[in-house]
Amino acid sequence: MDNPSSQNCAPDESRGSWGSSVGFILAAAGSAVGLGNIWGFPMQVGKGGGAIFVLLYLVCVFVICFPILIAELAIGRAAARDPIGAFQCLKPRTPWWVVGALGVVAGVGILSFYSVIAGWTLAYVWYAATGAAGTDPGAFFGGFVADGSKNVWLSFAVLVITAGIIIGGVKEGIEKASKVMMPALFLILILLGLRALTLPGAVQGLAYYLKPDFSKAANIAVLNAALGQAFFSLSLGMGAMMTYGSYLSKKTMVIKSAAWVAGLDTMVALLAGFLIFPAGFSLAGFNPAEGGPGLIFAVLPGLFATMPGGALFGAAFFVLLTIAALTSAISLLEVPTAVLVDRGFCRRKSVMTLTLFVTILAVPSALSQGASPALSKLPLFGMDFLTLMATVWNNWALPIGGLLIAVFAGWVWGADNVVAELKAEGNPFPFARAWSFLIKYVCPAAILFIILMTARGMFAG
Ligand code: PHE
Repeated sequence: MDNPSSQNCAPDESRGSWGSSVGFILAAAGSAVGLGNIWGFPMQVGKGGGAIFVLLYLVCVFVICFPILIAELAIGRAAARDPIGAFQCLKPRTPWWVVGALGVVAGVGILSFYSVIAGWTLAYVWYAATGAAGTDPGAFFGGFVADGSKNVWLSFAVLVITAGIIIGGVKEGIEKASKVMMPALFLILILLGLRALTLPGAVQGLAYYLKPDFSKAANIAVLNAALGQAFFSLSLGMGAMMTYGSYLSKKTMVIKSAAWVAGLDTMVALLAGFLIFPAGFSLAGFNPAEGGPGLIFAVLPGLFATMPGGALFGAAFFVLLTIAALTSAISLLEVPTAVLVDRGFCRRKSVMTLTLFVTILAVPSALSQGASPALSKLPLFGMDFLTLMATVWNNWALPIGGLLIAVFAGWVWGADNVVAELKAEGNPFPFARAWSFLIKYVCPAAILFIILMTARGMFAG
């Protein structure tokens, strides 16, 4: 039976759909699992003071973000449209489409710095294979990122590869590749983690990672960072999951798929911590709080150097990390692409135009790690341009997007309609009432509280 409020959305068979539930789970997990887990999560743990951050992060994932993941998938599936079109078709002639538009802007903004870091991982495939980082990987990384033109070219390369995959059709390529690559990434992470746990600094590293130090009360900025990281890692708040949901068939058990995606994503992030902190604390003079964007690049080559076959392991690790980054970059670029394609533009031309546009936007981030002194320490903000980008989009844009999506799902389109959509074809929605409560009250209130308190803290400080 058709949902009454999705009647405006005439089905468009030509949009395509996922081959199977497993295919969807892998593609969505491919979007979620990326640099956010392996590059971002340990860095945020370092900045946020260790285990306290881990705790706050887990609460944000399960209490705030998981319900929103379900909402995004439901909105996408009900409308079978790009994010702007989805709001238009579920609530026509209202300004809600702006939420979709904001998401598109956020996706482009995120891709502009994401491609720079993905460029680093690409280069490190070669550096790890050849042992180029030598005995002082931190200094090596510093020299590498200060080379502006190399960084611009690397991010351009990443965007071109992403574009190539999207133009060629995602399903056959990505779905198939993810089935091999995601398990391989898991395996390598576990092996590396086991090696890291036997290093001399392991106990200290684990304590830092797992034992919250409640004497240092976590401040609101840490909570804001945890919330932003949770949104970023699950690809939420900007329509990526909505777009992927729009390719779902009514038969899919959305709740179960969402649980898989959130579970896999959280596991990879936690594993990355088991790798970085024991390895980091085995290095002399390691200070996790000062790691910044280069944390994993400065720590991991040191770990590979201690292992038999380290060059091979290292190269394999960065190959898989590059692939994880690419499957996320694909979902970031797919959002604006879907908007143009759903409005009748040719897919190929849309992707090429967007790629050029994002390449230009990526330049300041690529030059912000030493190549340009002004961009490497912005006067007003006291941070480099890339870190500023990551903070603006992750800590602000995504939670605000998530807040609006929660309000839309809970109140405007309505929680009952979401539940009806997800129960289509007799699919189960266990805890539907708990979900309705979370999406209507807890998610909006918690996000609003965190955002307002953070803003107050910034202006007071
Ligand atoms: N979730 C991806 C990661 O963790 C990043 C991403 C954010 C992808 C938002 C799509 C949308 O790396």
